[in-house]
Amino acid sequence: MDKRFILALDQGTTSSRAILFDRTGAVAGSAQREFAQIFPQPGWVEHNPREILTSVLVTVTELLANAQVELADVAAIGITNQRETTVVWDRATGQPVYNAIVWQSRQSMEICERLKREGVEPLVRERTGLLVDAYFSATKLRWILDHVDGAQERAERGELLFGTIDSWLIWNLSGGAAHVTDVTNAARTLLYDIHRCCWDDDLLHALNIPRAMLPEVRSSSEVYATTAPSQFFGASVPIAGVAGDQQAALFGQACFEPGMAKNTYGTGCFMLMHTGGQAVPSKHGLLSTIAWQIGDRVDYALEGSIFVAGSVIQWLRDGLRMLGKASDSQAYAERVASSDGVYMVPAFVGLGAPYWRSDVRGAVFGLSRGTSKEHFVRAALESMAYQSRDVLTAMEADAGIALTELRADGGAIANDFMAQFQSDMLGVPVLRPRVQETTALGAAYLAGLAVGFWRDCDEIAALWQVDRRFAPVMPANERDRLYRGWQDAVNATMGFRV
Ligand code: G3P
Repeated sequence: MDKRFILALDQGTTSSRAILFDRTGAVAGSAQREFAQIFPQPGWVEHNPREILTSVLVTVTELLANAQVELADVAAIGITNQRETTVVWDRATGQPVYNAIVWQSRQSMEICERLKREGVEPLVRERTGLLVDAYFSATKLRWILDHVDGAQERAERGELLFGTIDSWLIWNLSGGAAHVTDVTNAARTLLYDIHRCCWDDDLLHALNIPRAMLPEVRSSSEVYATTAPSQFFGASVPIAGVAGDQQAALFGQACFEPGMAKNTYGTGCFMLMHTGGQAVPSKHGLLSTIAWQIGDRVDYALEGSIFVAGSVIQWLRDGLRMLGKASDSQAYAERVASSDGVYMVPAFVGLGAPYWRSDVRGAVFGLSRGTSKEHFVRAALESMAYQSRDVLTAMEADAGIALTELRADGGAIANDFMAQFQSDMLGVPVLRPRVQETTALGAAYLAGLAVGFWRDCDEIAALWQVDRRFAPVMPANERDRLYRGWQDAVNATMGFRV
């Protein structure tokens, strides 16, 4: 009998999810588990790699129990992951030598400064499409090799392995049989030439990274390994799709044509525009990156990476205790007609695209005696939309394409107020799809294509359905006035150095 499902494992920054999809791309069951965020020093963020693995296995157990599905009914597994987060482990024992250093973490800033002083940045831009920033994996890896006793020597002897979270999961689920990654994850390491599609010897040399510790880079849709029964509930299931979470969301949103774009509002917010078979270099502070590789064909994307989006609402809830739950933010925001001149610039870990300023921190402007919690919450939600407008402006300039609509997903897009304000601020319709688990869906599609569960991208594009279309209603002069206020707020934030 034909197997009925694809299992997607979505390993994100604050939680892991396991989601089952059927042939129509509908969710047939899901489970989610949060795990600990470790903050050893201000600006540092780490995870326990073992806890990440456990959280993934626990969600699979829960999912199978709740959905009453057997792994025998799963045709393949797709993996998608928080990108850039860096793990180094012992090849013989599987033991990590240090915590996973998370993409948000700034602990390798000094290494970045050194690379800039040594003049490496132009090479980084040309080969990787990225820029020198603590966001990407390579300087996190350098930090581990510098700070863990004997790590450099052991890595040179081939005793230690490096991987992003996809590699870590596949290595463990396959019982150590495969040390691999896919092109989208490799493209975020700062060590990968996105044009020639290979590890770059000059960059490996500049960072003194031993080649022996790197995973083999494969396409985004192929069988990489099968799960080892001893590690995966007694089952041998092919792992057949891998992509970093933002690229997976672009795929799940069926943005297959140049000029199509999506925005995902998760912990951060990441807007990606498909640019076809060529990498478009950015002149406006964006990244060029690999969208995916299927067969021999490599597709590229322009990306605007915003470091803080959904986490500003988490901060209102957990830090300021202004909200009981994140979803209350919509009701608060709608209780006032405007933010009354209040602007919040949530630069908690500096500013990402298009500014790239790690030395600034968050700020709130325009407070008056009449400012209420409602204004504050509204300003926080609006900050996601303003940051996305900054990125979209840069993207249209880089790509030379005016966006006609934006497909949107991620937790905060469930917030109707934010979705409408986003559409108003961009002046283009924002489309919320019926399946909002777009990241997991993209990984499932990539895996399903590899094993013949779905035929091709046309079949997948036909499965995409809109849930709600938010069309712009705000007059252009009002939009421009509000946005000018935001630009002033950002400039003032950048003028205040911590
Ligand atoms: O580049 C970081 C990104 O992959 C994290 O995504 O959804 O965990 O915020 P998310």
